[in-house]
Amino acid sequence: MSATQMNSSNVQGQAITASEFAQDVLARFAREVDKYPNDQKQSAVMACLSIVQEIKGFVSPSDELFLANYLDMPAMAVHEVSTFYNMYNLQPVGRFKINVCTNLPCQLRAGQSALEYLSQKLDVAVGGTTKDGMFTLQPGECMGACADAPVLLVNDRTMCSFMSTEKVDQMIDSLRALKVDGVQS
Ligand code: FES
Repeated sequence: MSATQMNSSNVQGQAITASEFAQDVLARFAREVDKYPNDQKQSAVMACLSIVQEIKGFVSPSDELFLANYLDMPAMAVHEVSTFYNMYNLQPVGRFKINVCTNLPCQLRAGQSALEYLSQKLDVAVGGTTKDGMFTLQPGECMGACADAPVLLVNDRTMCSFMSTEKVDQMIDSLRALKVDGVQS
């Protein structure tokens, strides 16, 4: 049976069909698996999840099931990885995903205020995406920059430190300008 034909059960036990991936994507999965011994191919799960997200923008339950079959590991184990790390999107997100650290050290230095300010400014609930699809706002875990609080991460890559309301305003203006100019972040 080919990888694109596999049917099985998702973590809720419902029958679903695995996502279909092009041959070049399957080749990328295979290259990641080849980095590990034959009996440890599940070690490639994070890399494969990242490839799925790069291709589709998020990881769906059927994608998790596909990888569970592909990597010979329980679907729940794949789900545990995808839900542990903020960088994996389990549903479609906006053009810019903003994660504001709200762990305790940042909470003590206006981390929560920065999150609430962004929620108000963008008119979006925490965890949601703006109506225009530009911004998704989420709380984040410690980013290893506690001394720079408030800190936030844009699209899992760009760390922004000391985010006062003025700096948040500048950042949002800059991101909106990027969108207008069609420049990729
Ligand atoms: S607690 Fe926020 S960066 Fe460490």
